[in-house]
Amino acid sequence: MQVFHHIQSLREALQQERQAGKRIGFVPTMGNLHDAHIELVKIAQRHCDVVVTSIFVNPLQFGLNEDWDKYPRTLAADTARLEAAQCDYLFCPSDTEIYPNGMAEQTRVIVPTMTDVLCGASRPGHFEGVTTVVAKLFNIVQPDAAVFGTKDFQQLAVIRRMVEDLCMPIDIIPGDIVRETDGLAMSSRNSYITLEERPRVVQLHRSLNWIKAQIEGGRRDFAALAETAREQITEAGFRVDYVSICNSHTLDLAAHDDQSITILGAMYTRGARLIDNVSVVLG
Ligand code: PAF
Repeated sequence: MQVFHHIQSLREALQQERQAGKRIGFVPTMGNLHDAHIELVKIAQRHCDVVVTSIFVNPLQFGLNEDWDKYPRTLAADTARLEAAQCDYLFCPSDTEIYPNGMAEQTRVIVPTMTDVLCGASRPGHFEGVTTVVAKLFNIVQPDAAVFGTKDFQQLAVIRRMVEDLCMPIDIIPGDIVRETDGLAMSSRNSYITLEERPRVVQLHRSLNWIKAQIEGGRRDFAALAETAREQITEAGFRVDYVSICNSHTLDLAAHDDQSITILGAMYTRGARLIDNVSVVLG
């Protein structure tokens, strides 16, 4: 695996791949890689000839009181995992390589409306930071396809919208959520969960699955279902951010006759904010 810290040298290497007719796959990450990230690399390998993974803990997508400074940085272990997965290129730029004019001066990419709800409501500016850095990374790597995990369901929807709206010639491929044996969705932020809380945090997934079963059983009283799930999570000892039953494509609150529904939730543990989702396709 070739490792690049600078845009120019990565571009030169990828230009040669492109000239040789290779299809380039891209997996953007913030590092602290776990099995779910490696699954994304494997998906990219199935769709493309060469795969680029980026590791960049993007300061622009963290709020002032969020965990940018304590976000786990594990570059040596990440590099070893990507080598073992036979990733071809690793791009790990510095903050100044990505934001040479400073973050305040950075041109922004904004996807309106669908970024105001769910995670966007409690993390103002987060998605603007995500779309801005992903657009930059897309311009740097110029991939044919990029793979994003479904755990960040809203992020995936927002990036799809950005790619469509800005006519970016990139296939966006979703990667399934990878779960621990008890159902907890794998996440870099799971390392913030205390040992005492760990057996209970699966309540988020359980409650979303409970809603899914109710909908599959014919219930359509979405507001009541979401309220019951919020109570279940609160009783398990966590502060709920949101539980919402949404149209999978628009992220609007689900309508009675929607066929494609995603149930999304976010909750706070003592040290972490965890998100999860499950989808239902009816009919
Ligand atoms: O999902 C993530 O890890 C980040 O939001 C991403 C897409 C790498 C952008 O910084």
